[in-house]
Amino acid sequence: MRHIPIILLGYGNVGRAFVRLVEEKRDRLNQDYGLNLVWTTIFRREGRYDFPPIGESDHPVIEKDGLKFGELKTGRVLNDLKSLLREAPGGVMVDGSVSDQKTGQPGYDYWKKAFSWGWHVVTANKGPLVYDYKGLHNSAHQNRCGLGISGATAAALPTVDLALYALAGADIQSVEGILNGTSNYILTRMGEGVDYAEALSEAQGKGIAEPDPAMDVEGWDTAYKILLITNASTELKYSLNDVSVKGITSISRQEVEKAAREGKRIKLLGRFERTDTGGILEVAPRAVGPDHPLFWVNGTEKGITFETDTMGSISAVGGRSSPVGAAAALLKDLINIVRQHDNKSD
Ligand code: HSE
Repeated sequence: MRHIPIILLGYGNVGRAFVRLVEEKRDRLNQDYGLNLVWTTIFRREGRYDFPPIGESDHPVIEKDGLKFGELKTGRVLNDLKSLLREAPGGVMVDGSVSDQKTGQPGYDYWKKAFSWGWHVVTANKGPLVYDYKGLHNSAHQNRCGLGISGATAAALPTVDLALYALAGADIQSVEGILNGTSNYILTRMGEGVDYAEALSEAQGKGIAEPDPAMDVEGWDTAYKILLITNASTELKYSLNDVSVKGITSISRQEVEKAAREGKRIKLLGRFERTDTGGILEVAPRAVGPDHPLFWVNGTEKGITFETDTMGSISAVGGRSSPVGAAAALLKDLINIVRQHDNKSD
């Protein structure tokens, strides 16, 4: 049995779903993967929760989400995290927090420290990746650590894994994806006669919209994802400034209905296309017909199509946006990273 210390950053929808999922799957993780995930500390904006060391269950504890942990400690949380990374044996830092995509902070600094002290990172936090994916990937690699980004690149829908494993050796010529569940849900509901504002509020009720839903409906969440998928799946290195972004805020119900009369559906698509000089990256709503591989992707479902030189057109659909889907993507990366690094040391 491998005992893997876990530090969790963020205790919002995704962080909580991750805790619940690990507890639900604890026996399965033990039996099938030989993994015992050991909660070390949960950091949130207000402070940190520590866990009583195993065997010392008489610590003052709060019971929440199937866990027992100590009172919230407030104070210099950043310093606490850095010393914990240094002092505790390397494990996995799970990032369900939010960072600024212009500076990557505060996650960027935490991750660099984590790698330097031998911790793997799996993340649903896009900010540090948008800021400098290749730099962080290299930093993980140099320290023989893993960086799992599924949680930040459409979560339960396989995107980067598909490109890196299933399409290894093929040249990716284009990528097209419905990568944001909130805007796809809104467009689908508008097609069913529901108003934009009501559809958005339903999506917020499902816990999938970003804290600022403008990030979803103005196309930025899709822009981050297509940028990250492109940078992680190809040799190219783009920045957010290279992505032309248009969201769905100007789409009226009349437009959605007109598309339907023509047998089409409006979808918010993130696209990368290789050109002679590099490539084009864009996010924009498009009317697609039933011959399009993503026509049937409705509601909170997502989808992606890769065009390749040797394997043709490969699509994956499903992986609906939800906190549990994001948590499952974090867990998938964690399992795979620990397995890969175990194999290396065999
Ligand atoms: N807000 C995103 C979505 C989930 O609606 O798909 C997090 O990436």
